[in-house]
Amino acid sequence: MSRVALSALLAVAAVLPNALVNAQDNPQATFPATPLASKHFAYPTGLPYQADSEHLIRGTQTGYNICNSTTENQDSLCQTSFLNALDDFCLWAPIKPNSLIADTEGEEVAWCTKPGRGTRLIPAGALKGVQFMRTPDYVQVVGFIDQSLINIQTGDFGGELDPHGADLRGNPLGGLVYSNAWSGNNDSFTQVIEWHNFMGGDAFCFKVCDPAGPNAANFCQHIYDRIGCAYNAPNNAQNGTFESCQGENQDFPGVYTTNGAVVTYTQPPESLGAISTMPYQPRVPASSNCVPFQSTALFAALATVTPSGSAAVSGSQTGSASGSSATGTRSGTGTGTAQNANQTTNDGSIVVMSGLVSVIGVVFSALFLS
Ligand SMILES: *[C@@H]1O[C@H](CO)[C@@H](O)[C@H](O)[C@H]1NC(C)=O
Ligand SMILES: *[C@@H]1O[C@H](CO)[C@@H](O)[C@H](O)[C@H]1NC(C)=O
Ligand SMILES: *[C@@H]1O[C@H](CO)[C@@H](O)[C@H](O)[C@H]1NC(C)=O
Repeated sequence: MSRVALSALLAVAAVLPNALVNAQDNPQATFPATPLASKHFAYPTGLPYQADSEHLIRGTQTGYNICNSTTENQDSLCQTSFLNALDDFCLWAPIKPNSLIADTEGEEVAWCTKPGRGTRLIPAGALKGVQFMRTPDYVQVVGFIDQSLINIQTGDFGGELDPHGADLRGNPLGGLVYSNAWSGNNDSFTQVIEWHNFMGGDAFCFKVCDPAGPNAANFCQHIYDRIGCAYNAPNNAQNGTFESCQGENQDFPGVYTTNGAVVTYTQPPESLGAISTMPYQPRVPASSNCVPFQSTALFAALATVTPSGSAAVSGSQTGSASGSSATGTRSGTGTGTAQNANQTTNDGSIVVMSGLVSVIGVVFSALFLS
């Protein structure tokens, strides 16, 4: 979520006092009583049916957080996600085929590599390469995927999902993330408070920060939504390679050192047009102990999963989480697509549509060149 979107919202809130009051059912209001990132639920016993039970200007939560064998199918609307290991993670992706992340960021559902959690499964063959990285403060997966097999339109450069959003309800609304990475027990899960997941360009990066670490919000920063994986999760993941590694921490996204000085990058608002130059190249941290695997060994459980393609999408979607509104609740997260520029006509970025596409394409590609 861009800073400009947030400040626009706060400006609206200032003139509409009701916008900040607790409103369970107030479609004019923007903010929930409690930001998603401040809601804590033990897994699985403490999970609510929906982490976001309010009806506000962006609608209601599309899916649910209690997921089980009944909800485990390719029409699942499960919005409880995991990042545990190279062979055990989920990605946020759309409900319906051929969707743009920018249009659906509020309603993405969990697509996982393992059955047993009540979610959709990533179809066999979709994952082309994945690097799992464990560092002192976070774990992340970065990889290559045929995104059409998880309902993302071919060619969409996508954007960022995170638990904040300009209205603090998260993208997706009510989306929860858990990990067993810090419990020492595969069956014991910690709720991840700070995370970011960039999806698009047939690639992804998903980082979850150890909530016990002092810098979780910095390592999993969510304000650099226009500059993709290369800047938010600098890595040396390779297409065609599946590996599990250990590494040092990245720099905080947006923070770099030049001539001995530590500098914080300011991401320009979309209204200023395409990001055509960057003042720095992100540092890819050292990694070690990378262990390669065959994807067939990692994702055997996916062998029988076929793309939902023509499968009917469940009609149980409650309240469309329609992104756009006159008050600017649509965030800047769905970056880099012509389609997104179309969606954000209220900030004037439509005039830079073609520039956005080519430039963000380059920034995303940088992920693989670094
Ligand atoms: C399974 O999950 C669905 C969706 O959240 C929920 O309605 C149902 O009660 C759950 N079933 C059980 C047995 O927990
Ligand atoms: C725990 O999970 C890891 C990664 O998925 C797996 O390799 C390991 O075998 C699991 N350990 C146990 C005891 O199941
Ligand atoms: C990754 O490699 C596959 C071939 O295995 C290719 O089809 C795909 O386009 C590559 N993805 C990217 C993002 O370069």
